[in-house]
Amino acid sequence: MSDQARLQVRGDDRKFTLEVGQTILEAALEQDLDLDHACGGVCACSTCHVKVKQGKDCLSPASEDELDQLDEARDVGLDSRLGCQSRLLRVPPGGVIELQIPDWNVNAVSEGSGS
Ligand code: FES
Repeated sequence: MSDQARLQVRGDDRKFTLEVGQTILEAALEQDLDLDHACGGVCACSTCHVKVKQGKDCLSPASEDELDQLDEARDVGLDSRLGCQSRLLRVPPGGVIELQIPDWNVNAVSEGSGS
C-alpha cells in the first residue's frame, strides 16, 4: 500500500505529493508550492491557511491552538486548515488530497516574492 497521496492544488497543474507523516506545509516547501508561512510553521499565524476540498478526514485533527489561529484568518470555512498543522495520517481511498489556497493568500505570496 502506498504511503503517499497525490496533492492537487486548484488552479495549479503541477503534480505534488504528500507523504504519510508529512504536513501540507512541509510538502509545499519541498516541492516549490507557494504557501505563505510567516511564523515558520509553529501555529502562531494564519498565513498558511488552506481549504481542504478532498481528503480532509485523512489529515490529523485540528488542535485548539490551530482553531484559535484560524479564527484570525480571512475567508475561513468548514474546510479550512493550517497547512503547517495538517499532517497526512493515511492515504485516502482515491489517493488524492485536494487543496485550494485562498486567493488573498496567493496574492500575498506573489506580492512578497519580488518577482
Ligand atoms: S505557518 Fe504560521 S500557522 Fe502555519
